[in-house]
Amino acid sequence: MRSIFDFFFASFLGPEVYESKRLLAEYLLLHYGSGEDLLNGLPGPLEAVGFPQRTVHELLDPSRISPTARALDLGCAVGASAFELARHCHQVKGIDFSQKFISTASILAVQGKLHTHKPIEGKLTASFTAQVPPEISRNRVTFQVGDAMNLPAELGKFDVVLAANLLCRLPNPQRFLKSLPSLVHPGGQLLLTTPFSWLEEFTPQSAWLGSKDSPGWEALKETLFPHFELEKKIDLPFLIREHARKFQYGISLGSRWIRRH
Ligand SMILES: C[S@@+](CC[C@H](N)C(=O)[O-])C[C@H]1O[C@@H](n2cnc3c(N)ncnc32)[C@H](O)[C@@H]1O
Repeated sequence: MRSIFDFFFASFLGPEVYESKRLLAEYLLLHYGSGEDLLNGLPGPLEAVGFPQRTVHELLDPSRISPTARALDLGCAVGASAFELARHCHQVKGIDFSQKFISTASILAVQGKLHTHKPIEGKLTASFTAQVPPEISRNRVTFQVGDAMNLPAELGKFDVVLAANLLCRLPNPQRFLKSLPSLVHPGGQLLLTTPFSWLEEFTPQSAWLGSKDSPGWEALKETLFPHFELEKKIDLPFLIREHARKFQYGISLGSRWIRRH
């Protein structure tokens, strides 16, 4: 039988879903869980574990980073990719729409770890500790609640802008793409990942990138090409654990773009 919570959750789609305890638990594991934390010895795609860390390692070109580089992680969720950027960048700002995600990421910035629980099945849970790798300078990273579709002008420009799996959660992805040139310094890096997983709860069908004749990647390229040069394109698998025996497996398309001078 479904609980009142399940009925509530089902009608709780759209951006507000990222304020739920359920998504917080899923994203803490996605961002900070090891293969053992996620799969607990069960067979599964271990190569999909550690998505936020792989996104930064695979897409960022550290040779282009200056000692004073500033990075922006848009739709940073609970913060792991922002912390990973701090291995290379002097200052990192993580912005997300979800108050719950940002307050959790901010706790991790201060404490370095957070003792929490992961669902096993039904009401059964197990303890899980989310931990930022101790060698990362957490004081380089700050988090704030904000809307990627409506960023304050005083944010300025960045040497690195990351938007991981954000595009298909926005009401107007095309407008967002058009705003990116004003956020990235000439020569700076734009790092994008997206599984092009369109849902009307987030993006009206009229605003989905692509059409019935052409994939979203073509629309994305067309919008970015006048302002950015495509330097790298790779597949980035990810694994979201719902409970001990249920997972979402996705493969994002990752790309690195260099802002034209
Ligand atoms: C699919 S999750 C991806 C999170 C993270 N980047 C990752 O790759 O694990 C989308 C994230 O974007 C955030 N988000 C959705 N709409 C947003 C908006 N308009 N501005 C900023 N963040 C937004 C959500 O709260 C959520 O954390």
